[in-house]
Amino acid sequence: MAVFRTLNDIDVKDKRVLVRVDFNVPLDKNGEVSDDARIQAALPTIRHLLKNGATVVLVTHLGRPKGVDETLRLDAVADRLSELLKKDVRKMDDCVGPPIEIAVRAAEPGSVILLENVRFYPEEEKNDPEFAKKLARMADIYVNDAFGTAHRAHASTEGVAHLLPSAAGFLLEKEIKMLSAVLDNPAHPFVAVIGGAKVSDKIGVISNLLKRADAILIGGAMMFTFAKATGKNTGKSLVENDKLDLARDLLKQGKGRIMLPVDTIVAHAIDKAKGAKNVPMDGVPADLMGVDIGEETIKIYSEVISKAKMVAWNGPMGVAEVPQFAKGTLAIAKAMAKVKGTTIVGGGETGEAVRKAKVEKRLTHVSTGGGASLEFLEGKKLPGIAALEANVEQFNL
Ligand code: 3PG
Repeated sequence: MAVFRTLNDIDVKDKRVLVRVDFNVPLDKNGEVSDDARIQAALPTIRHLLKNGATVVLVTHLGRPKGVDETLRLDAVADRLSELLKKDVRKMDDCVGPPIEIAVRAAEPGSVILLENVRFYPEEEKNDPEFAKKLARMADIYVNDAFGTAHRAHASTEGVAHLLPSAAGFLLEKEIKMLSAVLDNPAHPFVAVIGGAKVSDKIGVISNLLKRADAILIGGAMMFTFAKATGKNTGKSLVENDKLDLARDLLKQGKGRIMLPVDTIVAHAIDKAKGAKNVPMDGVPADLMGVDIGEETIKIYSEVISKAKMVAWNGPMGVAEVPQFAKGTLAIAKAMAKVKGTTIVGGGETGEAVRKAKVEKRLTHVSTGGGASLEFLEGKKLPGIAALEANVEQFNL
């Protein structure tokens, strides 16, 4: 496990604390927050800081704006946070600059400020040192609680951790602890479930988990790249033709531990449920495409999962945003909820599926990070975490 400071190692009384959170949440067509899981996940850190006499200055990104984008301002996020905290949240119209610094300096301990979307400045993603300094000027201490963005080396996730005494928030600490359990000390049988559209996105995680897992269950459109690699007809299914050798290599590396679906749901298009049917993997019609794992596969996968002591899951089994093609994904969520062992779910679409299946509370951990949890499970060092580790040497508290 990484060595960095946590909230219990720092005294925050009467200190201004800049907290990087990941409030990159989905908004509905009215601009309201439609899933506040990431805001809720940051509450323990915010509450701890308030209780201990800090002024809390929150910084986050929302979306991928190119410059200022009126639809990606943080007002709705501030409103939701304020409802959850039952407390005023002062939302700023900018995230750096003298007026913001003056307002932050004038704020009383126990107050919460939310800076405007930090990605309105291109300097954020460039990890511009001058921009990081402007952020750092606002605070005495930096806390990183944005696990979902820990794989980005940006000014507010990495740069600023070189400028202020820093610590991990409770969420970041918990995410690292939970995901480290998968890599460091998995209980056996350890089953990994990997879905998603492209094998190319999941090579790293499959290779890394193959070193530890007793079985890797494959789903999502990438199952058709594996199917084609083993000589099956895949009809109009999404196949990465330039990754067939790679799929064969992974199967070889897996020595029988990579399990592929035995049947699939096929349809005329990914958003067309009419005429969809269950066919064996050997029988995908030339004019149809696979959109989910089939019923027999659901049974087999659920059985394997039921015997596991640890299950890690990343990536949907089918086109989960279309209710008729979400059956495989929901079935995996339900099978995991019955496991008497540790169950870890990567964030992003997989996290949404688990919330839709209403099984979140029966799982050990549902990560708030999509890309971040994937990179972590690939065994990569995340820049946001590395900077916190370096900070321990840099600032002697
Ligand atoms: C996420 O939603 O995965 C994180 O907030 C990171 O967002 P990004 O992929 O735009 O950097």
